[in-house]
Amino acid sequence: MRTISKCLSVVSIAIVAGLGVAQAADDPIKTRQAVMSSVGAAAGLGGGMMKGELDYTPAAGKAAIATMRAAAMTFGSYFPDGSTSGNTEAAPAIWSDRAGFDAELAKFAMATEKAVAASGKAGPADIDAFKAAFGPVLGTCKACHEGYRVKK
Ligand code: HEC
Repeated sequence: MRTISKCLSVVSIAIVAGLGVAQAADDPIKTRQAVMSSVGAAAGLGGGMMKGELDYTPAAGKAAIATMRAAAMTFGSYFPDGSTSGNTEAAPAIWSDRAGFDAELAKFAMATEKAVAASGKAGPADIDAFKAAFGPVLGTCKACHEGYRVKK
């Protein structure tokens, strides 16, 4: 029971982060950070199941994948000119090398598209199927953060 409630609380974090997106609609910096924190929550859920720290269920696997897909489809829309300063970790390279940033976004989108296809209606059937679908999504974080995020 403990792992199940832990698992559910991670899913609720993702849902709360999703609500944050709606509330921050007029602030692109807050919005993109809310989208990325839903990505962080989904990575925690999926990664926890991959490491065996959380029990795997197809529904939880599907939720983690769906959150990643939603983020990949929306994240790139929240980098308008002028949203470079303030409370943000977005690197200036996003605006000086937009093509490079878009290429990282495209890799993220492609990995999530494949994961959704593998997920099907009920979610990946077992943890091995989930790992095969979700691993490549987790593989896209580092390159984009190294090039386009400054840790503050
Ligand atoms: C296409 C580029 C890109 C990809 C791919 C990407 N990120 Fe990010 N991420 C960013 C940027 C840029 C920021 C900083 C946003 C800001 O502060 O304005 C960020 C911020 C974050 C944050 C901090 C959010 C907050 O609350 O401020 C987390 C957590 C995060 N990313 C996790 C991940 C994980 C996990 C993955 C992989 C599954 C991932 N990211 C993939 C670009 C990316």
